[in-house]
Amino acid sequence: MHRAIHQMLEGGVIFSDPFALKILDDEARAGMPAMTDDPAHRPMRLFIAARSRFSEDAMAVCVARGVRQVVILGAGLDTFSLRNPYAAVSVYEIDYPTTQAWKREQLALAGVALPASLTFAPVDFERQSLADGLAAAGFRSEEPAYFQWLGVVPYLTREAIVAALNFIASIKGAEVVFDYGEPLENFPPAMRANLTAIAERAASLGEPWLSMFNPSDMAALLQARRFASFEDVTRAELAARYYGELGEGLLAGPGPHVVRATSR
Ligand SMILES: C[S@@+](CC[C@H](N)C(=O)[O-])C[C@H]1O[C@@H](n2cnc3c(N)ncnc32)[C@H](O)[C@@H]1O
Repeated sequence: MHRAIHQMLEGGVIFSDPFALKILDDEARAGMPAMTDDPAHRPMRLFIAARSRFSEDAMAVCVARGVRQVVILGAGLDTFSLRNPYAAVSVYEIDYPTTQAWKREQLALAGVALPASLTFAPVDFERQSLADGLAAAGFRSEEPAYFQWLGVVPYLTREAIVAALNFIASIKGAEVVFDYGEPLENFPPAMRANLTAIAERAASLGEPWLSMFNPSDMAALLQARRFASFEDVTRAELAARYYGELGEGLLAGPGPHVVRATSR
């Protein structure tokens, strides 16, 4: 919904996604006017557009150096697989089996044809091995790959996060982009109240935030996995890079982070 509204209100200037609106179900469409009219959604909407842009920019650099496998972890309604401009690149979408089945239904209802380059691989990160799920889908772990993992880490246990990072770090020439949030106590009171309300809403929908990280903990986690290099980009840095005039008047202060890590 945020990506769809970004196309409508801001012309997709940070992140262009012609499928975002097309694939929404009736319930989401019904909720659009309230979200569109409420300026409180703007910071999250711009961040969501910018994290996708950051990821697809990183992906382009990987493809230019020869990566031919892209994995979208916790794909949800991400549409990269439908827009894949790289003829030689295979795309694997990983998600909960039920979420993935629902997405496939939405795509069929919207009349969207599935590209031959796309393979769906149902995996529950908490119960199944990512390596096995991807191998069963035809992924080659001896070849380099780009992993996009957006909007998923907060919903996973630390064990599942570590297992996924271990797998990615074990692939030569792999790169991953993911986002994470800081613990609520790191935020000033007004922001904390707003975030607590969002967290409570997520929990009431059965999707509690399970894992938040201090940036120093995240750095230690990545160092322990022996990634060759990584950068941790703050929301303010993303804003400076991508928001342009849209960033004017946005509150500064702590916010979500986006990480780009490259394996050895
Ligand atoms: C907030 S959505 C983000 C979707 C998409 N990546 C995006 O950026 O719009 C979270 C996604 O993570 C998936 N997810 C959460 N926990 C999961 C798990 N244990 N196993 C597999 N997928 C999971 C959900 O099904 C959902 O697609």
